[in-house]
Amino acid sequence: MPIIYDESAKTFHLQGKSFSCCLYLDDKLGLLNLYWGSRLPDADVAWLARSVWPGASFDLALGRAPTEWPTRGSGYYGTPAVCALNAQGNDLTKLTYVSHQITKGKKKLEGLPAVYTEADEEATSLTIELRDELTGLIALAEYTVLEDLDALTRSLRLVNGGAERLTLTHMQSASVPFYGCHYDLIHLNGAWARERQVVRTPLGHANVRVESQRGASGHEHNPFVALCEKTATEHSGQVWGMALMYSGSFLATAEVNNFDGARLSIGLNPEVCRWQLDPGASFQAPEAIMVYSGQGLNGMSHIFHNVIRTRVVRGAWRDRPRPILINNWEATYFQFNEELILKIARAAKEIGVEMFVLDDGWFGKRDIDNCSLGDWVVDRRKLPGGIEGVAKKVNELGLRFGLWFEPEMVSPDSDLYRAHPDWCLHVDGRSRTEARQQLILDLSRREVQDYIINAVSSVLKSAPIGYVKWDMNRNMTEYFSGSQTPDRQMETQHRYMLGLYRVIEEITSAFPEVLFEGCSGGGGRFDAGFLYYMPQIWTSDDTDPVERLTIQYGTSFVYPPSAMGAHVSASPNHQTGRVTAIRTRAEVALAGNFGFELDLNKLTPEELEACRQAVETVKAVRETLQQGVFTRLESPFEGNFAAWQFAGRDGRDLILCAYQRLTQPNPVPHRVFMKGLEEEARYREIATGATFSGAALMFAGLPLPPARGDYQSWVFRFEKL
Ligand code: DGJ
Repeated sequence: MPIIYDESAKTFHLQGKSFSCCLYLDDKLGLLNLYWGSRLPDADVAWLARSVWPGASFDLALGRAPTEWPTRGSGYYGTPAVCALNAQGNDLTKLTYVSHQITKGKKKLEGLPAVYTEADEEATSLTIELRDELTGLIALAEYTVLEDLDALTRSLRLVNGGAERLTLTHMQSASVPFYGCHYDLIHLNGAWARERQVVRTPLGHANVRVESQRGASGHEHNPFVALCEKTATEHSGQVWGMALMYSGSFLATAEVNNFDGARLSIGLNPEVCRWQLDPGASFQAPEAIMVYSGQGLNGMSHIFHNVIRTRVVRGAWRDRPRPILINNWEATYFQFNEELILKIARAAKEIGVEMFVLDDGWFGKRDIDNCSLGDWVVDRRKLPGGIEGVAKKVNELGLRFGLWFEPEMVSPDSDLYRAHPDWCLHVDGRSRTEARQQLILDLSRREVQDYIINAVSSVLKSAPIGYVKWDMNRNMTEYFSGSQTPDRQMETQHRYMLGLYRVIEEITSAFPEVLFEGCSGGGGRFDAGFLYYMPQIWTSDDTDPVERLTIQYGTSFVYPPSAMGAHVSASPNHQTGRVTAIRTRAEVALAGNFGFELDLNKLTPEELEACRQAVETVKAVRETLQQGVFTRLESPFEGNFAAWQFAGRDGRDLILCAYQRLTQPNPVPHRVFMKGLEEEARYREIATGATFSGAALMFAGLPLPPARGDYQSWVFRFEKL
């Protein structure tokens, strides 16, 4: 049984394949978290409970105790996990244990994305009810152990069981105390076009906030944090990671108290979310996925990848091979017509591409980015036969057809805005801040949600559309709503997210055969919440392969390659001006959902041939790339090389990708060391027929051929004999 309650010791033991998480009901201190780490025998948990000695001095016991749901005003001085302002005007919250329940399976979260199960046997859940006697606030803490996936999820539901309104100010989804503070903190930092750069710093005594207040999970920080042992590497050592299943503003904190106790937490951002909870009402906070690895950072990523690939991503496309697509954005930007589109599609078909995606500029009078968002009516100057006409012609070429939308936005120069100027996020009497010359629709309003559902659905019904790119190109300002009373204005950001989730749930379930790809100015909303609705996300607007090495490497800390859109684009690159070989561009892109983002008609015959070969390779190994085990081997953050490998689920097919930034004269041949192979087994390199033992590939390492010129890459395919 993965969740064991010991009545006499008052302990809960949540036990995965390789982790334990131990909770304890202390008579005086309430619910404590004794331990989260490598799996322990159940017999040790009662002893762990007896060994808690928080002590008390100038600092009160609650400030030093490993409290599971810390609140404010009772001796704990860090970021509270739960806090509610009450009718008396104070936010003192004291939660005491009421009851608990252990059940098979896992509940859905109302209105929010969450890890799911396909059978109750996959999971065991624990609900602990805590209550603040004075205010009547009830906290229902939900824990699920996903046995085969070796992961833990946590979420929190708050119910007002009292007679007066409460204002929720803190509702963190997870807040975990750690013994000591001898850890490094890892998070993913960035900006537009340089998302998810890995940052690893020693945990100090100054508290750290990793957050977004942008109304999107954001380019700047990803909703993920991890602690690891200082000696942990990609392949060894202990790591504790948390990812929030939420696409809006979030806060993760890493704090160390004055007794050197660390605490990691993640949840909604209290700076931009305060919720009015009337008597009888309830509030569901998002879910956190929690992963412990004793096998280094790759061990953590393997678990996150499995959870996200198999039990976050849903629908028909979860396990299907993802199509190789060509997108016209960097080929044409807004300047296209049907003839040009078909010319690009024809060239793509010639090299084996499977889908054509028409990006921004097909609707209203959008020749530039200053108009027409919200008016989802085809521009017949560019496409005289409408979307239906061009989609059918693309289909006749033997390609599926995909279409770009940015449904959450409105241009001030649009019929929609002229008809409904109050439908955007705004504050009366203040100017409306435009970004990319657009405003954000107020998705907290039901009528706006319905407008979007109808507008997008009617285009999808009108033509054979097999794919949608769902873009979102600015962050929130004036994130308040004309439809809410003043006391509820601080709910707007979260209400927007609930509205957005309703919209995308309705659309994706009405069109189950359509493949949806999320996007937000590249990878500005790349999170497990969005992946619940859309199985893949455009990783970054930076398509430069050298930049993509760090972006894709960092993204893979949490998200599997099958979630990352990655395209071959033109050289010189449009974002950096860097010149790279077509082979390098292709060999970086094949480590994600492979596609193109250029006009193939402008390539030389040799370059076209390289593209054709890359398509052929991807088709041959697509299952391994999309469903296999991805392991990082060499970090582009640490040196001149990067390398990673994909291993087929049955361990037979192996793909090794290696990349070099700058070339040196007279170099020492660089060797790449693979991981996780069978030492005794023999592996045949498909291109040369050479065979190697697993031991040789792992311990002697494969020397890379000498390179001429900068930005080189190599892909080796092996099969186990
Ligand atoms: C931002 C996206 O990331 C790009 O790929 C492209 O779709 C543009 N928006 C279109 O406006």
